[in-house]
Amino acid sequence: MPESVTATAHPNIALVKYWGKRPGPGNIPATPSLSVTLDALTTTTTIRVAAVDRVVLDGVTVADAKIDGFLRGLREQFDIPPLEIDTGSDFPAGCGLASSASGFAALITAIDAALDLGLSAQERSDWARRGSGSAARSIVGGFGALHERDGQWLAEELLPPGAWPLRVVIGITSRTRKSVGSTEGMERSRLTSPFYGSWVRETPADFATARAAVAARDFGALARIAEASCLKMHALMLSSEPGLLYWNGATVEALHRIREIRNGGTAVFFTVDAGPQVKAVCTPDHATAVSAALADVPGVEEVLVSALGPGAVCGTGAGA
Ligand code: PMV
Repeated sequence: MPESVTATAHPNIALVKYWGKRPGPGNIPATPSLSVTLDALTTTTTIRVAAVDRVVLDGVTVADAKIDGFLRGLREQFDIPPLEIDTGSDFPAGCGLASSASGFAALITAIDAALDLGLSAQERSDWARRGSGSAARSIVGGFGALHERDGQWLAEELLPPGAWPLRVVIGITSRTRKSVGSTEGMERSRLTSPFYGSWVRETPADFATARAAVAARDFGALARIAEASCLKMHALMLSSEPGLLYWNGATVEALHRIREIRNGGTAVFFTVDAGPQVKAVCTPDHATAVSAALADVPGVEEVLVSALGPGAVCGTGAGA
């Protein structure tokens, strides 16, 4: 292999949420999901063959059980030498900005290229999903879907990034790492929320509605289903025991502000993941107004604007 291989990937934000896994191995989602891949946030991962496995996150060597488990799974199928994995993102990790999605998408893309595994995009997505469910969707760009067909979980690019050029405005309300990670949180919801069964039953219909809205580029329809899916997921979290409350006060204020400006004629809707950040999806002509409205909410520390971006790609580093 070349001396080093580098890949980049972007986080994705779900508009129809994934929250819950099927019991058993393989990190199989209990429901389909639909997302947009963000251009403005990037994870860059470089790998090289080393004497022993080593994970370097933002220049610091770390122990990462998820990456260790991921490599173990990969080595059951492929001959993978010890690797140094040097990774970093230009946005805060572990606080609801989907750093594990871009992280595993970049990692499998770099490993595939470096070791010539010859994986298809679909196979990379399958491996990325084993690392983190949502990572399957960061293999594709623009509007992505993760759904089951003939027993296989497929990531599909529903529309490429330029086909419906929406913007995502992110209001960062805290940089603190979440106290309950998504794997533990999902399991808690599956085992304890009285609403879990209806969530699993209804989400495929929400997915179909959102998919049709994307195909028709119907902003109003997408706004309705995305807010509904987001609020249902948080209802599931809140109704778990102990309840999972990922929002802070600024999150709630921002949701009210987004609905207020929508009532005033701005084409915008919100979504929130397992963290306190608020993501407002809007048409490009409204991005400035949405950014100003979010920046004005007390407790919003920073506002980022992103277009939709491409899927994970590989670039080869020094010595190629
Ligand atoms: O892929 P995970 O395990 O980080 O879970 C992602 C969960 C949500 O971000 C809350 C929803 C989603 O579909 O991305």
